[in-house]
Amino acid sequence: MLLMSRRARLQAALLLLAALAAIISASDLRGAQEQHGSPAQSAPAPNKPAEYVGSSTCQGCHEDIFKTFQTSPHEKLETDKKREWETKACESCHGPGSRHAESLSAADIIQPAKLKPAANDKLCLTCHLNQPTHAGRLNSSHVRNQVSCSSCHFIHKDNGNGLVARKLADINVQCAKCHTDVWTSFRRPFKHPVPEGAMSCVDCHNPHGGVIARGMLQTANANEPGCFKCHGDKRGPFVFEHAPVKTEPCSTCHEPHGSANPWMLTRAQVRFVCLECHASLPGPTLAANATLGSIPPALHDLRSPRFQQCTLCHQKVHGSYVDRDLFK
Ligand code: HEC
Ligand code: HEC
Ligand code: HEC
Ligand code: HEC
Ligand code: HEC
Ligand code: HEC
Ligand code: HEC
Ligand code: HEC
Ligand code: HEC
Ligand code: HEC
Repeated sequence: MLLMSRRARLQAALLLLAALAAIISASDLRGAQEQHGSPAQSAPAPNKPAEYVGSSTCQGCHEDIFKTFQTSPHEKLETDKKREWETKACESCHGPGSRHAESLSAADIIQPAKLKPAANDKLCLTCHLNQPTHAGRLNSSHVRNQVSCSSCHFIHKDNGNGLVARKLADINVQCAKCHTDVWTSFRRPFKHPVPEGAMSCVDCHNPHGGVIARGMLQTANANEPGCFKCHGDKRGPFVFEHAPVKTEPCSTCHEPHGSANPWMLTRAQVRFVCLECHASLPGPTLAANATLGSIPPALHDLRSPRFQQCTLCHQKVHGSYVDRDLFK
């Protein structure tokens, strides 16, 4: 007897898995709606396959969720004929619910948050694919590290208002929950005003992935650094470019999250930033094997305090309209 019932349970479980797989793997959920019976019908099933019962059935037992759903953006599914989930929106994500409505068992209904991250993403993307927010999504560090849609979007939270974090401070809290190390770097003395809630992580990062997959960075005008959205004066084009500002990321010289150094520089003093590259460049008037400033009395005698503040003279370190040596 015990064996029998175990097998029956196993069968039921397998059946459910098959039905689940059919729903998830169908490239279009609506497709699944039409053929939901087929995989189960071919098996010698003791139970009928689950069917769509409509949201009003769910309401019977999940009154609170049903009510709050009315204010959710997903309520459109319930009312909009064109989307083909009219009157059965709940089942657009949870799958056909007749079995669950009879058994009341959690095993008989899809709970998207319990799906594997890839399956969770796929479910949401049946409808959200190709939205502009997802450019590069499938190439992002989040998707490669099992951070699914349901890690950041909560369909039923706070009367549906928890679906998307919109307030800057709320977004930051959400990101900080996992990126505690990054959050602490915003405690440094020179930083972007993120902890104050005047900016958010999403000003610089696209959590869904970016055109440039590395760093999931936001871009301005197609593929320029997103920094230009706010620091447009650094964009140029300048008559005299400073090569690294054009060819390297801003983070070559700056720590964009926060730094102990003024101007969020990577080094405590400006000259050490410059000397990372320029120390090894031969000066024009020096011997070919010499390095800039290394041989007194060269123009740049670095022992002399006069030359230590590079940007006192080379003021236009991001590029100049008038001066080849970036003086003004
Ligand atoms: C007759 C009452 C009843 C009806 C009708 C009903 N449910 Fe449930 N539902 C329950 C109960 C009871 C649980 C808790 C099951 C458990 O925790 O074992 C539950 C749990 C769930 C869960 C959570 C499953 C999990 O893994 O945690 C989801 C999702 C769900 N129901 C969705 C629906 C949807 C969608 C419908 C309509 C198609 C629906 N329910 C209809 C009683 C019902
Ligand atoms: C857009 C997809 C989607 C729609 C539509 C949807 N749900 Fe959900 N539901 C989810 C996800 C995802 C979860 C997991 C928790 C979360 O992320 O909010 C969930 C969780 C649940 C739970 C479990 C809650 C818990 O605390 O364990 C129930 C019950 C439920 N939904 C019922 C419903 C009902 C009833 C409807 C229709 C009124 C509905 N859902 C419509 C995606 C959806
Ligand atoms: C059956 C189709 C469908 C599925 C499946 C679906 N959504 Fe949606 N989603 C919609 C529709 C329709 C809207 C309303 C906005 C619109 O018109 O595009 C929406 C809106 C949203 C929004 C934006 C809300 C806003 O305020 O702009 C988010 C975020 C979202 N869905 C997340 C999810 C997540 C996460 C999942 C997977 C758990 C999911 N959706 C599954 C159809 C769907
Ligand atoms: C790491 C967290 C995170 C993940 C993972 C994530 N999102 Fe988002 N999503 C956000 C944030 C934050 C916003 C709000 C962005 C803003 O206001 O600029 C957002 C916005 C949205 C919007 C609204 C778009 C708009 O322009 O208003 C939709 C739709 C959406 N996400 C769907 C999804 C789907 C589908 C997935 C899974 C494939 C997903 N998201 C994965 C954090 C995330
Ligand atoms: C559920 C946890 C979680 C949440 C929430 C989360 N992330 Fe992530 N994030 C990760 C993991 C895991 C990785 C990959 C490992 C790593 O680089 O730390 C990652 C990686 C990243 C990366 C590095 C990309 C790269 O190519 O190096 C950025 C940028 C990022 N997340 C930004 C965000 C932003 C912005 C938010 C808020 C909208 C956010 N994350 C929310 C878990 C999370
Ligand atoms: C001013 C723009 C800006 C803001 C605001 C910002 N970031 Fe970044 N972040 C960057 C840049 C640029 C990089 C790439 C640095 C590099 O090239 O190594 C980066 C790198 C990262 C990385 C991967 C490397 C690392 O340092 O771990 C993560 C994760 C990350 N950011 C998360 C966040 C989170 C979470 C927030 C909000 C609390 C945030 N960022 C706010 C610009 C920003
Ligand atoms: C959403 C707008 C915004 C974006 C995007 C942005 N910044 Fe900023 N940035 C600011 C604001 C506002 C301040 C002034 C902060 C303050 O005074 O507290 C600032 C200050 C700075 C400073 C320091 C200025 C000083 O006087 O100390 C540097 C360096 C900087 N940003 C670099 C960057 C880099 C690099 C990026 C891209 C990775 C970037 N910013 C993206 C808004 C932005
Ligand atoms: C070659 C190193 C280097 C690179 C690359 C660089 N910066 Fe700077 N940046 C500096 C230095 C040095 C200062 C301090 C200027 C001073 O001493 O007057 C500075 C200052 C700043 C300031 C604050 C003062 C001001 O002029 O507004 C901002 C904002 C800034 N940088 C943004 C950026 C952005 C955006 C990028 C990428 C497009 C970038 N920087 C790339 C070296 C660099
Ligand atoms: C990441 C490497 C890098 C850093 C850091 C850097 N530079 Fe440069 N710089 C270059 C390169 C490459 C050139 C172009 C050299 C060439 O065209 O021969 C250049 C050119 C210049 C020139 C113009 C030379 C000419 O053609 O007359 C000046 C002046 C200059 N840098 C000053 C600075 C100062 C001041 C700093 C520190 C704030 C700095 N650089 C930091 C790489 C760097
Ligand atoms: C007192 C003003 C002053 C200071 C401070 C200064 N420079 Fe210069 N720099 C000059 C002058 C003048 C030239 C030569 C211009 C010429 O001959 O065309 C020059 C030329 C350069 C050049 C271009 C060399 C070439 O190949 O043409 C570089 C690179 C440079 N300086 C880097 C630096 C660095 C790095 C620092 C800080 C360690 C620094 N400068 C500090 C005045 C200064």
